Amino acid sequence: MAEVRVMDHPLIQHKITYIRQEGVGTTEFRKIVSEIAGLMCYEATRDLKLEDVKIKTPICETTGKMLSGKKLALIPILRAGLGMVDGILSLIPAAKVGHIGLYRDPETHEPIEYYCKLPEDCGEREVFVVDPMLATGGSAVAAIQMLKDKGVKNIRFLCIIAAPEGVERMTQAHPDVPLYIGALDVHLNENAYIVPGLGDAGDRIFGTK
Ligand code: PRP
Ligand code: URA
Repeated sequence: MAEVRVMDHPLIQHKITYIRQEGVGTTEFRKIVSEIAGLMCYEATRDLKLEDVKIKTPICETTGKMLSGKKLALIPILRAGLGMVDGILSLIPAAKVGHIGLYRDPETHEPIEYYCKLPEDCGEREVFVVDPMLATGGSAVAAIQMLKDKGVKNIRFLCIIAAPEGVERMTQAHPDVPLYIGALDVHLNENAYIVPGLGDAGDRIFGTK
């Protein structure tokens, strides 16, 4: 069974409630999405492995902890996932960034692939797939399958808002992929939008509507 972690940090909850509101403009929306992504990344990296390293401070030699093991890659699902990249890179600047382009067919709501460019050594990295919205789960399931087909094994998925339907589909399809969710909402509406949600994340980040 997949690990499903719904964030309970007060700052994350506060910021998500804020951006849900209609009338929050593009500049503010984009900035806060990035902040939420950074806070979620902090929570989602709690279990990264550390190793002892010997260092010398200006005062003396000592042993400290540094990250060990696999390096990280960040894969936003285009377009809206791009809004989460800078907030995470501000904490993990050495992460490589790949891109997966998917959009939902407006009639069937199934994902249609249009782009995929990954770091060459993606298969050796711990990969964080990011997308603000997990609605039917079709896009996330497809993106993660694309990564697995290319030999990527260590994958985590971070989304700001999820619907129960998407969580169910993801955990069925990819039980090995931990899910980090900012807020778990109530259901999908007849257009497969999350209720209460925040509307169309891509349009709100890029100001396209
Ligand atoms: C949105 C969102 C997810 C997807 C979620 O993208 O950013 O990728 O829908 O829905 P699902 O779980 O039902 O697949 P959209 O297809 O609107 O593309 P965009 O980011 O380019 O606006
Ligand atoms: N994509 C979005 O941007 N919002 C939703 O509520 C569902 C899919």
